Amino acid sequence: MKTLLVGLGNRGTMWAEIIAAHPDVDFAGVMDLDPARLERFAARWPGIPQFTDLDAALAGTKADFVTLVTPPDGHLDQARRIYGAGLALLAEKPLTTEMAEAVEIVKLAEGHRLPLTVGLNFRYLTVTQAYRNLIASGELGAPGFGQFVYLRNRNGYRPGLNRYPLTMRHPMMLEQSIHHLDLMRFVYGREVEAIACRTWNPPWSMYAHDANVNALLTFEGGVEVNYIGTWSSGWNGNDFDWRTDCADGVIIQRELFEDIAKAKKEDEALTPVPIAPCEAFKDDTRNLLDAFLAALKAGTPVPCDGRDHLRTLALCFAGIESTETGRRVEMAEFYRRHGLEAWI
Ligand SMILES: NC(=O)c1ccc[n+]([C@@H]2O[C@H](COP(=O)([O-])OP(=O)(O)OC[C@H]3O[C@@H](n4cnc5c(N)ncnc54)[C@H](O)[C@@H]3O)[C@@H](O)[C@H]2O)c1
Repeated sequence: MKTLLVGLGNRGTMWAEIIAAHPDVDFAGVMDLDPARLERFAARWPGIPQFTDLDAALAGTKADFVTLVTPPDGHLDQARRIYGAGLALLAEKPLTTEMAEAVEIVKLAEGHRLPLTVGLNFRYLTVTQAYRNLIASGELGAPGFGQFVYLRNRNGYRPGLNRYPLTMRHPMMLEQSIHHLDLMRFVYGREVEAIACRTWNPPWSMYAHDANVNALLTFEGGVEVNYIGTWSSGWNGNDFDWRTDCADGVIIQRELFEDIAKAKKEDEALTPVPIAPCEAFKDDTRNLLDAFLAALKAGTPVPCDGRDHLRTLALCFAGIESTETGRRVEMAEFYRRHGLEAWI
């Protein structure tokens, strides 16, 4: 299969490495608005058609799908052009920074009967798969409550990192917490029924808008999770802790991309759960790409599809609504108000 890679920044370069090394995908071409990014790409991967205009790239290449790795505020316009050209779309998260725009893209995909996958690659980390399998096995009983802690001082000026989160609204929620909310939905295999949320910006934050997210999430079956995430921690060391208390034991993920352990209620110590090594951002993304390619070839539903992503995005926007109104948001009511019922 051939892909047109659009967006050659920090994440686009990771995608380029994964595509270049993949036996079943070739570049049909690459596109970026910035000629310097195209030059840098050509120095590593010469001979691939390059474009600075999306329509020209779509007309001038023979691709099976577009890998879209641009900032989210342009995704709707790009999706219109990509689906208009009859191509499948694998788009980075967040699909959009507006709820209505995300619905529009899902409608476009379904209207054209073309696949849409959103890049929720952390679902494919081996630690995530192990967590999900443990919950699904019921080995430790039904989950009852949890806490999810992600504390990081992210230097948004670090060379190589994208700059737009420094000035966008809700950078933590829409760029980072979106992954965490998606992981909880995926691992628990349950949807959120209600969210009470508070977002804010610590006085020392380098971000123009809220770098902190606190949320109380009520999942189906009464599973309650307490979430805190920040990009403006007071310390440069990272902290990660995702603990789920179940009827007969506990599951704890102690590192961001690895280290999961479990204990039965009476156990004196935690027992590590063996997981295969997995290089974050690479192996997980390749696994997502493999699942996407397999679905395209077989004509079966793609992974992390648009409807699925609408539920995770809805959680982000319901959280934002909650912090703005000071009220807990019932998701069923949120779906109704935003015309989402038909799409999820
Ligand atoms: N899934 C993950 O693990 C993960 C990790 C990092 C970033 N991301 C996501 O990837 C996306 C890109 O992030 P990034 O870090 O690469 O940003 P970046 O700023 O480093 O790169 C964005 C690139 O897109 C180009 N661009 C901007 N508008 C364009 C347009 N209209 N057409 C073509 N090119 C355009 C820019 O010139 C730049 O080269 C974001 O949505 C981000 O959230 C996902």
